[in-house]
Amino acid sequence: MATTFFVPVQSAIKEVEALMRAQVDVNQHPDLKAALEHLMSAGGKRIRPTLGLLVGHMLGGNHEKLVTLGAAVEMLHTATLVHDDLIDGALLRRGMPTLNARWSPAATVLTGDFLFARAAKLAAEVDYLPLMRLFAETLAVIVGGELTQMFSAHGNLSRENYYQRIYAKTASLFEMSTLAAAMVSTEEERIRQAMKTYGYETGMAFQIVDDILDYTGDQTAVGKPLGSDLLNGLVTLPAIYYAEAYPNDPDVRAIPEGGWTDAERVRRLVERIRTSRAIEQAMNEARAHVQRAMNVLLPFHPSTERDALEELARYIVDRQF
Ligand code: IPE
Ligand code: IPE
Ligand code: MG
Ligand code: MG
Repeated sequence: MATTFFVPVQSAIKEVEALMRAQVDVNQHPDLKAALEHLMSAGGKRIRPTLGLLVGHMLGGNHEKLVTLGAAVEMLHTATLVHDDLIDGALLRRGMPTLNARWSPAATVLTGDFLFARAAKLAAEVDYLPLMRLFAETLAVIVGGELTQMFSAHGNLSRENYYQRIYAKTASLFEMSTLAAAMVSTEEERIRQAMKTYGYETGMAFQIVDDILDYTGDQTAVGKPLGSDLLNGLVTLPAIYYAEAYPNDPDVRAIPEGGWTDAERVRRLVERIRTSRAIEQAMNEARAHVQRAMNVLLPFHPSTERDALEELARYIVDRQF
């Protein structure tokens, strides 16, 4: 990431990555090793461990524990992506072919399971029991979100359903990253809750922007398939704003009745959404979340980490990938 908020944690992120790689040992099956190697080398923005490290260091937390926590969180994230890409039939991630593009579903599921197991082991190594509960609860929320998306999100234009989905699939893990880092760094409940809020708000903003990029992003920069949410029946914030502005548009009215299965109709609608005010309205909503995240930081003493957290919040709405 060519952004300055990354600088204070650059070397710590290298340690996180080394610890993740160390979870692959010599006795594993060569195919599993190859798959894990493929995943590690594909990189990623490492935004979740970055959040945890900045929060933890701002609060004077123990470096070792924060690195271990960062590796656990990123491993958990990677595991959810491996399963998610299989579920979505997505062939590209982080600019590279997904595991499911090259392997059988069975091998992909098992590799994801292996990553979940290693994430749990790393979390256990932080040696703080409440963290295990938080990890388990967050994973349950993420899985619940994927299930909701699968069974009750298609063609669903409701805001409630949308916010619930983006909390479950994204904001919950952001929230966990910052709360867990605060939990291992301070006993003060007020500070823990503040950091939890910071994670929640940046997470909601992050997913809203992800959903906007599905409409407006550059495929090469983003590194994963774009323009596909509505084609898959997934109504996100830009489509919700558009539907609210044009409730009588026949293409809008068709969506809840399965109209998203008509590719021609969807392409038409996507083009109209892309060039409508809906994009800017959704972006403003993301900016409001970012503002709330920044407000949380105000009472904290100025520090390199606090500045970086502010910048990170800003980056979330400015990012192109
Ligand atoms: C992808 O997360 C899944 C979402 C929650 C949108 P990231 O955009 O953080 O993915 P990587 O880790 O940088 O590839
Ligand atoms: C995936 O959600 C993120 C998870 C937490 C499982 P999406 O399917 O919306 O994200 P992308 O577009 O594949 O990254
Ligand atoms: Mg997906
Ligand atoms: Mg998406």
